Amino acid sequence: MIEYRPLRIALLGAGSVGAQVARLLTENKAELAARVGAELELIGIAVRDLKADRPAGFPSELLTTDAEALILGADIVIEVMGGIEPAKTYILQALNSGSDVITANKALLATHGTELFDTAEQVGAQLYFEAAVAAAIPIIRPLRESLAGDKVQRVMGIVNGSTNYILDRMDTAGITLEEAMNEATELGYLEADPTLDVEGYDAAQKAAILAYLAFHTEVPIEKVHREGITGVTPELMRAAQRDGNVIKLLAIAERIDADKAGVEGVSVRVYPTLIPRTHPLGSVHGAFNAVFVEAESAGQLMFYGAGAGGAQTASAILGDLVSAAKRHVAGGPGLADSVHANLPVLPIDRIYTRYQITLEATDQPGVLASIANTFASHEVSIEFVEQTPTLGRKTANLEIGTHEATDASLSAVVAALAASDAVEKITSVIRVEGI
Ligand code: NDP
Ligand code: HSE
Repeated sequence: MIEYRPLRIALLGAGSVGAQVARLLTENKAELAARVGAELELIGIAVRDLKADRPAGFPSELLTTDAEALILGADIVIEVMGGIEPAKTYILQALNSGSDVITANKALLATHGTELFDTAEQVGAQLYFEAAVAAAIPIIRPLRESLAGDKVQRVMGIVNGSTNYILDRMDTAGITLEEAMNEATELGYLEADPTLDVEGYDAAQKAAILAYLAFHTEVPIEKVHREGITGVTPELMRAAQRDGNVIKLLAIAERIDADKAGVEGVSVRVYPTLIPRTHPLGSVHGAFNAVFVEAESAGQLMFYGAGAGGAQTASAILGDLVSAAKRHVAGGPGLADSVHANLPVLPIDRIYTRYQITLEATDQPGVLASIANTFASHEVSIEFVEQTPTLGRKTANLEIGTHEATDASLSAVVAALAASDAVEKITSVIRVEGI
């Protein structure tokens, strides 16, 4: 039964996501009202260009360029404009005027989340952001609510669809990074600035948001260690295949115990890694996303689905909208996420990882021993070595896998090898996860 007054919804942005939010709000109006107990009335849609083409059936009569006036008249504001400004100003205005806000803006949350969350808490409003990480996949609410009574140890995700598409095509079709990037561009997977995807910025923003929720800790984006996929070569792909591995760009947020790093902390990092094909993340193909969570009592959990797309992202936004609207109907202030733990975010050099290094060495007596000695002198234990001769040259290709060691020790080994007379060239260095 609908007894509550209609709730006024302002939509900021009518692009790929916003147009789908408007469609779902219109098409599912009666069903949403029944679920919430109040009608959800879309009162306006703020855009830059009133004359731009919109999809068929789009409610163009609701378009406005006056976002501020729209916000003032709303109960709930949905921000799907993207970018930092004016999105940040608009969200602050909305919160300060008592509206709940729903946003998909990972870039804004990763850089100014603290200010936005603090404002929401001060005014008793709620900021929802399920769509900001992995779009359609419910991962924010599970971390925020379902796992709130557990202790999350690690969140490891493929949270950038375009780079997963690129790496997957390099793996399955044997094409180069450039060819795969061209395909991803044609399919519209890459951001307008592709470096956001291929250099790992987008994944780093999402990793910071996941770590904030998983570890109740503020994670400044500058403290997320970030490496992109531009160094991934077809040779590296083939070597991974030979060993039953696959290369994925992983966003990792991990609790680090005091006995490992001297202080309890968190590590948040993004880099291409080797993982076994048999790992649940190893079978995530195309532009799909997946997030693998390990929690003390729940054990291992896997969340999988579409990490982008207008309708898919709008699904997550509508879920947040129903929550926000129900809160309005029920009354009571918004609940802030706790950052009580505020663990230090540890630099990458203190984190224990594993490396796989391929190099070309001179093929002479004592070379292998001297290389092994380089590892030993930095207290890095070798797990395996595979040697293959190079054709027509007095060198050998060595593939060396390590046990866990600090990233500082591993990079010192790589630097020492690069400087060694025994090593002609370091062909590749890649971290290994999920073993
Ligand atoms: P688009 O670029 O397709 O759309 C942006 C919309 O915002 C446009 O309608 C644009 O107006 C409007 N807009 C931009 N700047 C202003 C401004 N200054 N004043 C008023 N309106 C403005 O973006 P998307 O829909 O792809 O993405 C929106 C958000 O969702 C971003 O934060 C993005 O990161 C996030 N997201 C997107 C996903 C996706 O698959 N697309 C997935 C997950 C998250 P106009 O139409 O007039 O140009
Ligand atoms: N550029 C992002 C991706 C879009 O490739 O996953 C979704 O956030």
